[in-house]
Amino acid sequence: MDKILVTGGLGFIGSHTVVELQNEGYEVVVIDNLSNSSIEVLDGITAITGKTPTFEKLDLREKLSVEDFFKKHTNIKGVIHFAASKAVGESVNEPLLYYENNISTLVYILKELKKLPETSFIFSSSCTVYGQADELPITENAPVKQAESPYGNTKQIGEEIISDTCKVTPSLKAIALRYFNPVGSHESAKIGELPIGVPQNLVPFITQTAIGLREQLSVFGDDYPTPDGTCIRDYIHVVDLAKAHVIALGRLLKNKHKSNYETFNLGTGTGSSVLEVINSFEKVSGKKLNYKIVGRREGDVISAYADTTKANNELGWKAQLTLDDAMRSAWKWEQVVRSR
Ligand code: UD1
Repeated sequence: MDKILVTGGLGFIGSHTVVELQNEGYEVVVIDNLSNSSIEVLDGITAITGKTPTFEKLDLREKLSVEDFFKKHTNIKGVIHFAASKAVGESVNEPLLYYENNISTLVYILKELKKLPETSFIFSSSCTVYGQADELPITENAPVKQAESPYGNTKQIGEEIISDTCKVTPSLKAIALRYFNPVGSHESAKIGELPIGVPQNLVPFITQTAIGLREQLSVFGDDYPTPDGTCIRDYIHVVDLAKAHVIALGRLLKNKHKSNYETFNLGTGTGSSVLEVINSFEKVSGKKLNYKIVGRREGDVISAYADTTKANNELGWKAQLTLDDAMRSAWKWEQVVRSR
């Protein structure tokens, strides 16, 4: 079976994707620098799949190490590239760290892939490229808006770098997957989201509040022009998202793609408000969440949810799991992690 490199394969979405790749029989090599992940994630992957992926601790900013890696692993058929920094606030304070981590590394990998006779490349992009879209749900044709942060800019520039490279490199086949809001964890609770420090994202903040690590969740604004006044997002279960990566990779490996650079939205197609997410959590956990409404958070868009038609029709992929499933698994994971 084909050998696939997963960069950032011990991170949140990366680890779930490694599980799905191994379940489909792929041979997986993981690169991770462990800057925002832990080596124990390998044990979780092994416990779920019965197989341990090959692991190389490597920092992709080290160009020579990247070259050496590809000299050593000559038969890589595809790459799923997750390794990147993703904290919006941090990116504002440390733009060069973000451009180096997210852009230099991408260039180094693509330079190596250009040398191969044929290769398939999946890029972690984000719905952040659309900003506040003018029309909802958001299709892949919606214009890319001026980025609000260096983090968002790295996703836009990353897509452009890949698209430009594909134009002059017929041997390179690539798909950029634009994720909406990935949440939840594997149902086994052997892998999941492990934010370092205070979580910036809604769901880990909810579960950490419920378990007593945080005193109270702040709901950022209830005066938005939405039905209940809170912001709307498209929360997609990470297992559904991981499966989409395997399907997208298969599309390229089997030459089912329509052009050698494609983009797909990955969401459920349904928007949920912050209060709906809290309600879902309270329902599945049976716990009352301590939260209060505070002022708006700077940079938040009002509403974003995916038009999934292209992913449904072209990839043949559709999210199967619900928001309740995601909240149930996130809560189970939080309880397992804290009892370790
Ligand atoms: C954020 C980033 C986005 C990035 C994504 C990565 C911003 C503005 N956007 O998306 O670029 O791709 O994370 O995962 O940072 N909320 C609360 N209280 C909280 C936390 C969040 O009310 O403590 C609300 C937010 O206002 C938002 C929703 O929950 O309406 C989701 O927030 P979050 O999980 O941070 O995701 P995004 O902002 O959509």
